[in-house]
Amino acid sequence: MNIRSFLANRVRNAMSDAGIPNDYSPALAIAKKAGFGDYQANGAMAAAKAMKTNPRELAQSIVNNLDLSGVAQKVEIAGPGFINIHLAPEWLAQQLSSKENYLNTEDEEQIVIIDYSSPNLAKEMHVGHLRSTIIGDAIARILAFRGDKVIRQNHVGDWGTQFGMLIAELEQHLGAGAQAELALKDLEGFYQQAKAHFDEDPAFADKARNYVVELQSGNKKILALWEKFREVSLSHSEDIYRKLNVTLSTEDVYGESAYNDDLAPTVQSLKEKELAIEDDGAQVVFLQELADKKGNPSPVIVQKKDGGYLYATTDLAALRYRTEKLEANRILYFIDARQSLHMQQVFTVARKAGFVSDWVSLEHHPFGTMMGPDGKPFKTRSGTTVKLADLLEEANERALAVVKEKNADLPDEEALIVARKVGIGAVKYADLSKTRTNDYIFNWDAMLSFEGNTGPYLQYAYTRIFSIFRKAGLEIERFDAALELNEPQEQALALRALQFNEALEQVSAEAMPHVLCTYLYDLASLFMTFYEACPILKEGISEDVRNSRLYLSKTVADTLSQGLELLGIETMERM
Ligand code: ARG
Repeated sequence: MNIRSFLANRVRNAMSDAGIPNDYSPALAIAKKAGFGDYQANGAMAAAKAMKTNPRELAQSIVNNLDLSGVAQKVEIAGPGFINIHLAPEWLAQQLSSKENYLNTEDEEQIVIIDYSSPNLAKEMHVGHLRSTIIGDAIARILAFRGDKVIRQNHVGDWGTQFGMLIAELEQHLGAGAQAELALKDLEGFYQQAKAHFDEDPAFADKARNYVVELQSGNKKILALWEKFREVSLSHSEDIYRKLNVTLSTEDVYGESAYNDDLAPTVQSLKEKELAIEDDGAQVVFLQELADKKGNPSPVIVQKKDGGYLYATTDLAALRYRTEKLEANRILYFIDARQSLHMQQVFTVARKAGFVSDWVSLEHHPFGTMMGPDGKPFKTRSGTTVKLADLLEEANERALAVVKEKNADLPDEEALIVARKVGIGAVKYADLSKTRTNDYIFNWDAMLSFEGNTGPYLQYAYTRIFSIFRKAGLEIERFDAALELNEPQEQALALRALQFNEALEQVSAEAMPHVLCTYLYDLASLFMTFYEACPILKEGISEDVRNSRLYLSKTVADTLSQGLELLGIETMERM
């Protein structure tokens, strides 16, 4: 239960007792302006309009029936019929002291599939995969925390014609006595080498094409080479996941090749349902639903003239697997906005073919491009794509310089650990805190700043609270005290802390991690305000007040670290 739904229930009851039909919502929201209470119920106006009565009078009769004794200290009507609810500090204190209360969720547990990261194994992971990996992982953590059964699916690109060329190249290296791990150390270089071979040497190109056929027909020797390539490439990705503190593991890899056996049956089923029709030798589904402006239906090719299958075919087979075998209720895709049409096509075909029932939610959550300081897609100085491994290395180095400058006393070994958390945290937070659907500019100085809505600012706020406890000679984990909220800054902070679950609820519904970032930033800022206005360890502060403030601080620290953890960002006790 969270405060908002708790109050909404009470207001709904009062509305019903005031004779308002049940289909009118209490329209309960956090109050937008100071002085208008903590929450507002704005439903009286819409109900009055429909019932053709005076809205203020209707609001009054709702308030007359509203039982918030012990919960609110004041309920008042403002303007045309807003009901402003001022919560009682004693109630806030009581709620915050019984943690379970405000962290419980009432949503039904769902089986949720999250398709994210999903790099192509032929090449090195690059910055384009960073956003999908970071955002998808945060949402996976948050949904699991809220009680869903989350199944991560790393839909890696591990099949397709380019593998013929790569295997032929690998075979040559191995034949010359090289180790696969070493030959593939620089995956990007290896790919370019293979491509050059393919373009310049017709005999090599023939062999590569032949290997594609051999691979598809299950030739053992060729399959073994493919598996080797796949294994080494995957280990590169896994290395990045570890450095990034991302929860993806080997068990989550379920790549394109996993669907090979279901591609023919998928097309067959589309044919039987008369959705796929032959067009110039290919099998195509024409979607009137996605027609262009001139009314031409959108073509989705599911099998090429030469019999080969496509990206869309694999995604359709994946949907069959996810609904039939994994029994998903909700399927989320974190893929670049440029693949929006593709996803729409896949979803539409899958629904029409009955691969996915109406009650299963299919959601493509697109994101914008990561831009360089020049406002163009992020590239190296020489104009090539930035390797993720290099980017993360640079994050650590830059963070180390910042950490050393801030605190020269930190022992070297600890500074390295802190720098890693700060550097990776800064990169992730910079991404997560922006509205997902927008492009954003990647800026080292801004993301590593200790001021403003940044990862380091939140990590720092957390360490501040730790240092208060250190100074007081107390252990934060074990600390407990009675909470008393006398000052307005204490009340504002307690209320915000209690709204954690509301933020998570919104993130879960919209898959927008920036909502949680904004919340945490706000919480940390309110803490700073509280800390300035309400001294804790100063002389002359009574023990009860001191302990109450310490307890409030501890709650904030817990919420900050829990929130950051859900974003995949680590905290430390000092920095
Ligand atoms: N491998 C693709 C790429 O790198 C992304 C795959 C996304 N997931 C999916 N089910 N289509 O562009």
